[in-house]
Amino acid sequence: MPRPMLWLLIAAPTLVLILVFTLLLSNGGDTRERRAAVRTSGEAQIGGPFTLVDQTGATVTQETYAGKAMLIYFGYTYCPDVCPFSLQVMAAALDQMDTDERARIQPILITVDSERDTVEQMASYVASPAFPDGLVGLTGTEEQIATVARAYRVVYQRAEDDGSGDYLMDHSSIIYLMDDDGTFVDVFTSGVDPRDLASRLQDFLEENPG
Ligand code: NI
Repeated sequence: MPRPMLWLLIAAPTLVLILVFTLLLSNGGDTRERRAAVRTSGEAQIGGPFTLVDQTGATVTQETYAGKAMLIYFGYTYCPDVCPFSLQVMAAALDQMDTDERARIQPILITVDSERDTVEQMASYVASPAFPDGLVGLTGTEEQIATVARAYRVVYQRAEDDGSGDYLMDHSSIIYLMDDDGTFVDVFTSGVDPRDLASRLQDFLEENPG
């Protein structure tokens, strides 16, 4: 047998094997990279660290609620309709969950009206029996509120004064579900059916056992 032929007989299967391995490896690597890219951009889009003040006057960050999923709504206590409605939707959904499930979710209201929503105002508002048990009310400086709102892609602005000194706030009305690391999971419109919200929360808790 001439030497080049012999070389081909040995080399060809080896080359095929190397090719197959390379393809398998590069495919696998590709998928991993793509998954990582999606997760990274998801984290970058919604949420992030915050420093605010709760209704007891304590300074809090998202670390304060580590270990619990956060159900966050941005609004303000002087809101005549949409905010109280949204908080009642949250309450109705949470009421459908059992004690263990309920204990793993921290409902939070973050005000977009730092001027009027003082610690005292937040304290009396979140105590309403119509709202979720254990609802936390967070306020802060104008800048702290602007920072957290920006992180959550919430838009808000003071509407025209009616002359009486009272004013309304125009604001996004969205309920955010964040996992126990503060990573974004899902959003709901404030018009969501409480049963749908409850079942989504239960699915999430099942997929992420404590
Ligand atoms: Ni409102």
